[in-house]
Amino acid sequence: MNVGDQHFRTIWIKPGDERVVQLIDQRFLPHRFVIEEVCTVEQMATAIREMHVRGAGLIGASAGYGMYLAAIQAAARPAAAGVDEQLACAAAQLKATRPTAVNLSWAVERQLRNIAKGKNVMEKVALALRTARSIADEDAEHCRMIGQHGLKLIRQLARKKAGKPINVLTHCNAGWLAFVDYGSATAPIYAAHDSGLPVHVWVAETRPRNQGSKLTAWELGEHGVPHTIIADSTAGHLMQRGAVDLVIVGTDRTTLSGDVANKIGTYLKALAAKDNNVPFYVALPSSSFDWKLRDGLKEIPIEERSAEEVKQADGWFEGQQIEVRVAPERSPAANYGFDVTPGQLVTGLITERGVCEANEKSIRALFPEQAS
Ligand code: MRU
Repeated sequence: MNVGDQHFRTIWIKPGDERVVQLIDQRFLPHRFVIEEVCTVEQMATAIREMHVRGAGLIGASAGYGMYLAAIQAAARPAAAGVDEQLACAAAQLKATRPTAVNLSWAVERQLRNIAKGKNVMEKVALALRTARSIADEDAEHCRMIGQHGLKLIRQLARKKAGKPINVLTHCNAGWLAFVDYGSATAPIYAAHDSGLPVHVWVAETRPRNQGSKLTAWELGEHGVPHTIIADSTAGHLMQRGAVDLVIVGTDRTTLSGDVANKIGTYLKALAAKDNNVPFYVALPSSSFDWKLRDGLKEIPIEERSAEEVKQADGWFEGQQIEVRVAPERSPAANYGFDVTPGQLVTGLITERGVCEANEKSIRALFPEQAS
């Protein structure tokens, strides 16, 4: 998407030096636009773990580029352990960074399968680069298509609103910053706005790391989409007062039965939506389905991050990023990164192939090749 009048993806190969991956370091947004250069798989693992890059789609694309850098490193040290051993080690290193977004292991496995087809190390490096680029291009294209399918839903709502704004509520950041481009939950919003439909977005701040107030608000502002930041606990109140026409969120891992793991707090918004008959949609590319799982509550690994993220807050002060202590130093804190919304609370899934219900029968109908 555009930043100012320049088009940006969230991650790309440095023009003129294919051994360097460049990415937007999201830790500094919205106050500073920082481009980071990554040259090793170790640096990419750090960028994922410490959330320089985050969001399921972008975590997958970053892991894809991470395996490419690992192939370059393996080619540079043929005397060390065999190339395939070095790549297996790199794969384990990347997979160990964050547990919930399935796109991470999906991208690493796809790279291992393709790289294995290489007869020599240079062929393996070339295959790794081609695969990393395919993962990124597909991610962007699938999000663009999610936008088109989601636009139809917003158009249906617009017909009932007689020109008044369609109020969409979203949680966390499932925008272009969480993918390579376009975003999942934001793609229908951008498509509707660009087609002239009056949309307004309620942006839940998304404590403790504020992906909503920092990243989603920044994205929407850059694109000129009207939006209002709210405290996370405000969503139910707005739904009770009919101020929300539609909820669209992303997902880090959705099961074959339609159970949806997403940023902590999503489940509470799904409950409020159900209680107030507000349509609750989840937008995802097929790379975010875990085709092996059915019971999300029992089977999806939920990331726990440091207590400090809850007890502190960070922000911009006198030209620099600072962290301030909010809670008493001695008080313990728990920091679950994600929760699971059962499929029964989800009105529908917006995918690159169209919209389906959040149940196995409907998902299989849209993805018959996954019906093993
Ligand atoms: O901890 P994050 O910022 O990686 O969490 C991101 C989310 O939960 C998004 O909603 C999710 O990834 C869906 S969009 C890819």
